[in-house]
Amino acid sequence: MGKIVAIANQKGGVGKTTTAVNLAACLSFAGKKVLLIDLDPQKNACSGLGVYEETYQISAVDVLLNETPVTDAILKTSFNNLDLLPSSSDLVGAEVILTDLPMREQRLKAALNKTVRDMYDFIFIDTPPSLGLITINAFGACHSVLVPIQCEYYALEGVSSLMMTIETVRERLNSRIELEGIVMTMADKRTNLNQQVIAEVREHFSEKVYRTLIYRNITLAEAPSFGKPAIFYNIRSVGSNCYISLTKEFLEKNSQAPKKALSRGQMIIDIQGSERYIQESHRDFVDSSIFEKSKK
Ligand SMILES: Nc1ncnc2c1ncn2[C@@H]1O[C@H](COP(=O)(O)OP(=O)(O)OP(=O)(O)O)[C@@H](O)[C@H]1O
Ligand SMILES: [Mg+2]
Repeated sequence: MGKIVAIANQKGGVGKTTTAVNLAACLSFAGKKVLLIDLDPQKNACSGLGVYEETYQISAVDVLLNETPVTDAILKTSFNNLDLLPSSSDLVGAEVILTDLPMREQRLKAALNKTVRDMYDFIFIDTPPSLGLITINAFGACHSVLVPIQCEYYALEGVSSLMMTIETVRERLNSRIELEGIVMTMADKRTNLNQQVIAEVREHFSEKVYRTLIYRNITLAEAPSFGKPAIFYNIRSVGSNCYISLTKEFLEKNSQAPKKALSRGQMIIDIQGSERYIQESHRDFVDSSIFEKSKK
């Protein structure tokens, strides 16, 4: 049964969606079956995977409010092994309507039943920048929370209320919830401030902080406007490398033995500098137009 991981930080613009899209894409690329759930009315996870609202009718709103089965709302993406439960701008209003519904904090948990979980190795939930009912639904449904923290001076601001919220959810709603890990985003090798912030976060959260740093990189900012995760836009970029490395660590922490398909994916990850190998052995993973782009 698939592990459900919520990606959350109520602070805006810290790299939640970038992490959700790219971690999900790297895992699917490595042969894992992955579902990405977009619970943010901004729909950035949808557009990051090239899915736009005019192309679908059923969304997470129907799942949360009308008990529409998740399987009716799931969309295939253009990427192998990667499905999407899309968001809708109507999620803003849904948050208010949810307040008056029965089991208002547990509706996503009920929706992600065994049938859905059996379809995937991992289910990621991209949450909005708030600790409202939608994020609480994600916390109610998940096994763990992955927290992206931006490498900046006030990095830890707000993180204590996030941890307190997770604690409250554990006591009242979901006893299995745990901290999956903390990923430091938008790091910049050149500044001392970054080093200080990273040291401070590591001191607080010790081994829960991933060794991998996600560096600030233009590919990560550009790829969403092409509707592609970074590895399908420019696999040789620093940004792709960072998320590939995070994926390896994530799999190590989850003690996931490689699947058959993963060994091919992992090879590409290990030697992803070698163009020939990618071209010859992985045409089924990376279509040639993407490969052409990655040569730039
Ligand atoms: N490592 C990075 N390097 C460069 N740009 C990045 C990086 N990570 C994220 N960005 C860009 O920073 C912006 C914010 O990132 P993102 O949307 O992932 O944050 P978020 O936490 O999901 O935001 P929100 O709280 O609004 O949902 C986006 O424009 C994204 O493309
Ligand atoms: Mg986001």
